[in-house]
Amino acid sequence: MEFNSMDGDIEIAAKIIKDGGLVAFPTETVYGLGADAFNIKALARIFEVKNRPFFDPLIIHIADYDSVYKIVDYDSLNMASREKLEKLIAKFWPGPLSLVLPKRRELPDLATAGLPCAAIRFPSHDIAQKLIRFSTGAIAAPSANPFGFLSPTRAEHVKAQLGDKVDFILDAGRTSIGVESTVMDLSSSIPCILRPGGISREAIEELIGKVEENPYVGNLQTGSPHGDETLSLSPSPPISPGLLKNHYAPKTPLVLCSRESMPKNNHNDNEGFLYFSALPDGIKRGKGVMILSEKGDLNEAAANLFDMLHELDNLGLNIIFAEKVPDIGLGRAINDRLNRAGGSK
Ligand code: TXA
Ligand code: MG
Repeated sequence: MEFNSMDGDIEIAAKIIKDGGLVAFPTETVYGLGADAFNIKALARIFEVKNRPFFDPLIIHIADYDSVYKIVDYDSLNMASREKLEKLIAKFWPGPLSLVLPKRRELPDLATAGLPCAAIRFPSHDIAQKLIRFSTGAIAAPSANPFGFLSPTRAEHVKAQLGDKVDFILDAGRTSIGVESTVMDLSSSIPCILRPGGISREAIEELIGKVEENPYVGNLQTGSPHGDETLSLSPSPPISPGLLKNHYAPKTPLVLCSRESMPKNNHNDNEGFLYFSALPDGIKRGKGVMILSEKGDLNEAAANLFDMLHELDNLGLNIIFAEKVPDIGLGRAINDRLNRAGGSK
């Protein structure tokens, strides 16, 4: 393991985790709000600080392969699931893929919101790995934002949104991937993508064959599992609460548009624009006009997504118009977040 000037901070942060505190830390996707996965009081504080409903399970972050067996009830998996798990881990870990698998009894129920399965991921970010290794080996961490709001891709976003409710923030600049991990259920016979994210469905299917996609993914205009309901009205826990319609939302109302249905000009200073690549005629460059990727690269667009949404959200605009991106690869995750950012406003 290489050591660098942040190691002092990581050691302080690791001690805080060991003592039951909360640390915001960078991963390759977004910043997480971490606590010892086996400390019930610390887990409860995550829910409190994020204002997160107790039906929404947390992802368990590990930094070595053997830790899988401390979290997952491996013996209960059939051969087919084991084979898929091994292939996925070999190819995509460390990286932005969270796998939902039967949990061991020792993992507190609070970590999985009472569900029999846990989502587990091995992040590739060097600092995340060191924090996990120097502390307890298993850190439960949702994205470090208040529930339902934009995920943080910079330490500044965490400071602005959660401030001193967090015991320590490890600042390593902007995250590289910019959208959250793909959440994939491997607990039943047919693997299913519950949330599109940093690893594309195409890449997963190339490795393990056809996978299902949660029927509500990509179909959010017409309704999520629970329609437009607010959380307090939720009749039953959604299968993966990151799929709630009004999620990943800026404070400013956002409308997702096809290229053709975007406004034809930007004469109105109160309107913001988030374009995928080239600007059409009639739209002039300016403060409220952002382009996810000048060269039309979906990876670059994903990396810029939350960053630009945070920036637009801070301009005090009345509305943000966002252009839909091509629905392939990481584009699915981008459209998914934009769709939800529009929510039911
Ligand atoms: O990239 C990421 O995944 C980031 C970084 C910090 O690792 N984390 C993140 O966590 O996005 P969070 O809590 O904001 O989103 C986790 C998603 C939620 O939609 C949650 O419902 C789902 O994963 N999830 C977690 N555990 C689950 C489980 N046991 N079964 C089904 N869905 C689960
Ligand atoms: Mg989140």
